[in-house]
Amino acid sequence: MANAALKAARGLVRDFGEVEQLQVSIKGPGDFVSTADLKAERTLRAELGRARPGYGLLFEESGATPGSDGRHRWIVDPLDGTTNFLHGIPHFCISIGLERDGEIVAGVIYEPTRDEMYWAEKGAGAFLNDRRLRVSARRHLADSVIGTGIPFRGRGDHAAYARTLTAVMGATSGVRRMGAAALDLAYVAAGRLEGFWEFGLSPWDIAAGMLIVREAGGYVSDIAGGHEMMATGDVLAANDHLHLPLGSLIKEALRPQPSAE
Ligand code: IPD
Ligand code: CA
Ligand code: CA
Repeated sequence: MANAALKAARGLVRDFGEVEQLQVSIKGPGDFVSTADLKAERTLRAELGRARPGYGLLFEESGATPGSDGRHRWIVDPLDGTTNFLHGIPHFCISIGLERDGEIVAGVIYEPTRDEMYWAEKGAGAFLNDRRLRVSARRHLADSVIGTGIPFRGRGDHAAYARTLTAVMGATSGVRRMGAAALDLAYVAAGRLEGFWEFGLSPWDIAAGMLIVREAGGYVSDIAGGHEMMATGDVLAANDHLHLPLGSLIKEALRPQPSAE
């Protein structure tokens, strides 16, 4: 998985250097895909397919391809942070999750511009390059920095999201919107962020990151506290102390508001 990510990353770094020449098409409102996404996806399909020919695939750009091995599936975002990439902001990554019998058992997130490889295997811990990862030890929301994804044009319920943002910004030391959900999860695992929430993500954004957070001692759930993240795309991740209080704050902000009358 790491080798496939490193190979695809070489192409991404080359394309990032000439970003103004890339061909870009529009997938939906506020949603773009470039030749860099497509090339990285092709490299990852070829490398992972060569290493494990029978595995099924779920790739952001080419969708689901069943494999002859019914138990395993790669879940891949070839470029998470496309909007950053297209604006020349050096914060993007490749995310590869491996699912076995419906459960994520291995994950790799590679950030090429910092040469940071986050990885985890179920039961074996989480690592950044060769260093073991542990979520942050901060116990109070007041001291914490929380990552999020702000919905954009054509995506999500803006009014409901704004209520959650108001609640979290008033209770913490700061909120960050960095633009690559897989890296947000990796940063929770690395203890750089105390927590993260976002609505409406896709399986390829979160498959690897959820495992890496858990293996670093953190908690990941949907906003209700359940485990439907892959189905709903709603994700709340945090260190062990703050998962419950952060979840309560966000749930409370989402409760239907009494009407103004
Ligand atoms: C996006 C990024 C972003 C998040 C969006 C995702 P993409 O993925 O992860 O941070 O807010 O919801 O779609 O399109 O760059 O792969
Ligand atoms: Ca993504
Ligand atoms: Ca993507």
